[in-house]
Amino acid sequence: MQLGTLQLRNNLVAAPMCGISNRAYRLLCKRYGAGLVYVEMLKVESFLHHNRKMMTLKYFREDERPIGIQFAGNNPLWLADACKMAEDEGYDIIDFNMGCPVPKIGKCGAGSALMAYPERAAKCFEAMVKAVKIPVTVKFRAGVNENHLNFVQIGRLAQEHGLVGVTIHPRTREQGYTGLANHERTRELKASLRIPVIASGDVKEPEDAMRVLRHTGCDGIMLGRGAWGRPWLFREIAEMQSHGRVFTPSPDPLERLAILREHFELLLEAFNETHACQVVRRYATWYIRDVKGSPAIRARMNRVSTREEFHEILDETEACFERELGHEPALATVAAAG
Ligand SMILES: Cc1cc2nc3c(=O)[nH]c(=O)nc-3n(C[C@H](O)[C@H](O)[C@H](O)COP(=O)(O)O)c2cc1C
Repeated sequence: MQLGTLQLRNNLVAAPMCGISNRAYRLLCKRYGAGLVYVEMLKVESFLHHNRKMMTLKYFREDERPIGIQFAGNNPLWLADACKMAEDEGYDIIDFNMGCPVPKIGKCGAGSALMAYPERAAKCFEAMVKAVKIPVTVKFRAGVNENHLNFVQIGRLAQEHGLVGVTIHPRTREQGYTGLANHERTRELKASLRIPVIASGDVKEPEDAMRVLRHTGCDGIMLGRGAWGRPWLFREIAEMQSHGRVFTPSPDPLERLAILREHFELLLEAFNETHACQVVRRYATWYIRDVKGSPAIRARMNRVSTREEFHEILDETEACFERELGHEPALATVAAAG
């Protein structure tokens, strides 16, 4: 997929997700085939003020490229300044967030709340595009609610103002994350625009990706929750697209534990030990969610607070798997021992 001057190796994008798409997550998505990864949404004011949390969030490694940053805001001047800074810092692409439904962002008139103000949105588009040479895109929802569906209008404004692509999460702001993403709307948007359209929402299996691509004619797929604890979903979709089937088997439980271990090492590279342990608890749950005996392992993992403890739990779990020659039930024993 091509987004302006940026040529991607495929059409699979790792969604920007607050609290999730940190460097460790992005690196694993990239490793398993994401064509583009994003830093989580940053409020434009916080980015401009360089606070300490921001320094951790926005730092990226060269091997993550191509990498995008996403801003939420509604002040064209601030957005232009932030875009210039992001370009100077080496990002490859900038996305504008018009999809976030959380009150903290909405009460500032940003995120999906901005969909109610298309003229203001257009001013933001114009300012961002004029400020930089790197490509600018926007991600938005279907509209504020079912009585105010203006995704085609927003898409057209983005195209007119020089944005090089759009991503639609076809739920309304009012819907939040309830119900289903209505990709009929993605199809309508694609038919209305010349620039690439990326679909986001409810793609959890390679078959979902194929169905959405076929049905909507969209150019790319953005993966969010489907890739939690399952970064190899990118590889599976890429294989399905190029060969019509998934031929690399999904990692077995032992391999998944090895990926979790690596995920933790990458978190330690990004955060201090206490924070890395807090963050890994959530990811661990996802990596082992469908492993027999996992509730008890999770319970232990949920209390993990040191690097040693983390490795101890995984060592015991792995040893158990090995003893059982790949049979999973032994996990229950390990968990109980903890
Ligand atoms: C925990 C969480 C955090 C999210 N953070 C962002 C964000 O920072 N920026 C953004 O554009 N979308 C964000 N989203 C929305 C996702 O990018 C995506 O559009 C949505 O989850 C639907 O796709 P999915 O069904 O593949 O998850 C977030 C979603 C979740 C669940």
